[in-house]
Amino acid sequence: MSRNCAYESSEMNKLLGETLRLGGFDLTDKGVACCHWTSADLLLDLGCGQGATVSYLDKTHGLKAVGIDPSQKLLATARKNNPDNTFQIGSGEAIPFPDDLFQGVLSECTLSLMTDMTAALKEVYRVMKNNGTFFITDVYARNPESLEAMKVHQFESCMRGLYDLKQLEDDVESAGFEIILIEDYSELLKQLLVKTIFEFGSMNAFWQKTGGACAAGFQDALKMCKPGYYMMIARKVE
Ligand SMILES: C[S@@+](CC[C@H](N)C(=O)[O-])C[C@H]1O[C@@H](n2cnc3c(N)ncnc32)[C@H](O)[C@@H]1O
Repeated sequence: MSRNCAYESSEMNKLLGETLRLGGFDLTDKGVACCHWTSADLLLDLGCGQGATVSYLDKTHGLKAVGIDPSQKLLATARKNNPDNTFQIGSGEAIPFPDDLFQGVLSECTLSLMTDMTAALKEVYRVMKNNGTFFITDVYARNPESLEAMKVHQFESCMRGLYDLKQLEDDVESAGFEIILIEDYSELLKQLLVKTIFEFGSMNAFWQKTGGACAAGFQDALKMCKPGYYMMIARKVE
């Protein structure tokens, strides 16, 4: 990846573990329960990172998923840790699969990293079967008026790509999906903040170690946006 990628850092791994996101598998389980996928379905894990979800879906729920990610480094770990599962290089903006293939797409803390959200949503719609379900967990700005100040920070972390959730809802619907569920999990961010300070001493120390987001103004801009966390489930309608 060309930009500074926090997810490839050992500090991020230490903080979050094999799942490079908030909520571990608890939110994945909620998604599985709501989406009613079966072992006959093929799923796509968009931005699979180290492959933890692909493996978990297989071993715990008997669900078949393939993972794509633009990071060669994370894909190498995914393949090494999960030799029985399938992982491919790819990005949300150009999904390397044919139309109407997947019954479900999971995007766990990855949509906020897309460089072109419109293209990514169009791609997810294209590769999904009609009535397929799109499961998203990610960060958002509870104070979207302050998002402008975040745009100057090129750091590759979902915090850089915080959403205006209302705007995202509009974008998801414009792409052809019907939103069936949105739930707030901002409490998980507070827990992570406490854990980060406990392990690294301060947020500043953590951001410095992960590669540069300590750049002047980043943390102030972040605080102003009031980061939150959500789960969304949307269905493809034709
Ligand atoms: C927060 S991590 C989440 C990884 C994984 N979903 C998990 O929950 O463990 C974000 C992931 O998105 C990937 N990513 C970054 N840009 C992407 C893009 N344009 N399309 C798909 N994935 C992307 C990163 O390489 C990273 O693996």
